[in-house]
Formats: sequence, structure tokens, C-alpha cells
Amino acid sequence: MIMTQDISIIYPNLIARIHALCKGEEDPITIMATVSAELFHAVDGYDWVGFYLVVAPNLLKTGPYQGGHGCLVIPFDRGVCGAAARQRAIQLVDDVDLFEGHIACSSSTKSELVIPCFNQSDHLLGILDIDSDQPNFFTWEDADQLDQMLRQLFQNASL
Ligand code: SME
Repeated sequence: MIMTQDISIIYPNLIARIHALCKGEEDPITIMATVSAELFHAVDGYDWVGFYLVVAPNLLKTGPYQGGHGCLVIPFDRGVCGAAARQRAIQLVDDVDLFEGHIACSSSTKSELVIPCFNQSDHLLGILDIDSDQPNFFTWEDADQLDQMLRQLFQNASL
């Protein structure tokens, strides 16, 4: 039997816990490692959770993550992660097979949510990528809550 979790019930506690764990922390890598671990272990259906960092103009490289290894390098013009970085906008993809240019690091990924991470100067630090092996797994409500959390966590961060 597949148990489905109601993310709207899990999220408030989960986000509060992440804020508590990261209280006073400004190092983006430390924050990213904590966020990846907390999200990955809290939500059934999150198969890969991690960050890609902006390391050069138009180039992402893998940062802290949980799950099997992903692509190490993603240019801004490739994949869902690249689109989020290039457009500086959240990408919610219900069916990755319908996203042109999706990078299939794992063939089990069916849907994904990618959220760009900014500090308070609107400097793009990287992106948060969450992959699920279930189609249509993410909602805009999840996306908005995570976006708000990341903006608060990274407000004083710089890479
Ligand atoms: N799915 C991403 C690639 C990253 S890995 O799946 C971890 C994309 O298309 O951008």
C-alpha cells in the first residue's frame, strides 16, 4: 500500500525546524546541507533534494545534496535547473518528459520543482532542485512556501 503524506500538514513543522536549525547561520553551504537533509528525510516522494551553485557566469555546479549522484555541471541553457537560473524564476514541472531539454540524471524522475535562491541584494546564489519519482508531485503552494523559506535563510548569504 502506498501511503501518501499531506505535505500541507508536514510543511509548517518542517519549515519551522529548518529555521530553528539554521538560526544565526549565514554560511550558504551549511544552510544548503541542512535544508537538503531535512527536506529529503521528511517527505516521502522526494527522491533527490539538493542545490546547484552559481560558480561562474551562466554555470551551475553541484552543491550539497541528498540522494543518488546527479549531474555535476549544468550550464544555464540546459535542463530545468538551467531554466530556473537563467529566468531567475521557479520551475514546477509536472511531467519531465514534456519539458524540452530536461536532463535525465535519473530515469525514475517524473516531476520536479526548482527554486532559485537569492540573497537580500537579489544576487543569485544557486538553485534548489527537488525531484520526485511520482508525476504531478509538487504544488505551487509548496513552491511558494519553500521560496519564502529560502529567501529568509539566504538573506545575508554570499558565495
Ligand atoms: N533534473 C535536473 C538535473 C539535475 S539532476 O536531476 C539532480 C534538470 O533537468 O535540470
